[in-house]
Amino acid sequence: MNNLFSLKGKKVVLTGAAGFFGTYFAEALLSAEADKVFCVDVSEPGLADLKKRLGASSSKQVEYVVLDQGDQKMVAKVFGKLAEHGVDVLINNSFVFGAPTGFAPARGRIEDATFEQLQKSFESGIYWSIQATQIFAEASKKSDKPLSVINLGSMYSVVVPSPTLYEGFDYYNPPGYSMAKTGLVAFTKYTAAWMGPLVRANILCPGAIPNDEKKSANSEQNKNDAFRQRMIDRTALKRLGHPNDLVGTVVFLASDASSYITGQMIVVDGGWTIV
Ligand SMILES: NC(=O)c1ccc[n+]([C@@H]2O[C@H](COP(=O)([O-])OP(=O)(O)OC[C@H]3O[C@@H](n4cnc5c(N)ncnc54)[C@H](O)[C@@H]3O)[C@@H](O)[C@H]2O)c1
Repeated sequence: MNNLFSLKGKKVVLTGAAGFFGTYFAEALLSAEADKVFCVDVSEPGLADLKKRLGASSSKQVEYVVLDQGDQKMVAKVFGKLAEHGVDVLINNSFVFGAPTGFAPARGRIEDATFEQLQKSFESGIYWSIQATQIFAEASKKSDKPLSVINLGSMYSVVVPSPTLYEGFDYYNPPGYSMAKTGLVAFTKYTAAWMGPLVRANILCPGAIPNDEKKSANSEQNKNDAFRQRMIDRTALKRLGHPNDLVGTVVFLASDASSYITGQMIVVDGGWTIV
């Protein structure tokens, strides 16, 4: 039974690897004995921190790849090279949080979200997953090797942020985020329908998991106890999530245990979206 969830012999590409979730995903992939994890991120210092955290014992299993996914030519080159290794799993986890996508401090509400904010949301929230999938799916076709694509959605792939959650606070979740994460669901299903059976694609939709560990665009709201309590109140399991709540699903979707699952949204949100 244990072998079903083993990633022995599998090579994984993980984007946004230096981020809050990425760090835990990398650790979980290593624990599941992945053959190789290509940890991709634009942040060189972030990758250096990750390297420290994963430790010397993982040095044979991990390769750190500095890449700006906003540079399409460079992505084609670097991912093209990685694809030559015979990648089994692609985890599309990167996203641009912060002012460029309308998160704090420069905010764009639905009434005044700018073209630039929406463009960055759709570029990083949808297009980066599309470009990576195209490259690794093409390689999988050429080599006749299965590929499991895991996209990172959100509870806001399922519902939009409720205005009542933010009532009385200065912050909110910008519209481009939910729109991008919803579009990513359609892309996931499209991939599953059109690139199968060799390629499986699923979308993991996490709930409220405040980043308490790294500096983030949402630091202000993450630290506000009244706001945190409001998020807890909306969650059936009456607690906020932690990246460790997600890693089981990541390993499951990467492994052969999920071999008959494709085009699905796996919502790991403590019950946020059920009412
Ligand atoms: N934290 C949450 O509560 C939450 C909830 C639901 C979904 N998600 C989704 O999970 C994923 C990870 O979220 P997180 O909280 O770990 O965010 P994070 O900001 O900590 O991680 C995102 C990573 O993407 C990288 N990145 C940004 N721009 C890049 C570029 N140009 N090229 C390459 N890499 C780039 C960043 O450097 C960062 O390490 C995202 O897709 C996010 O939308 C997060």
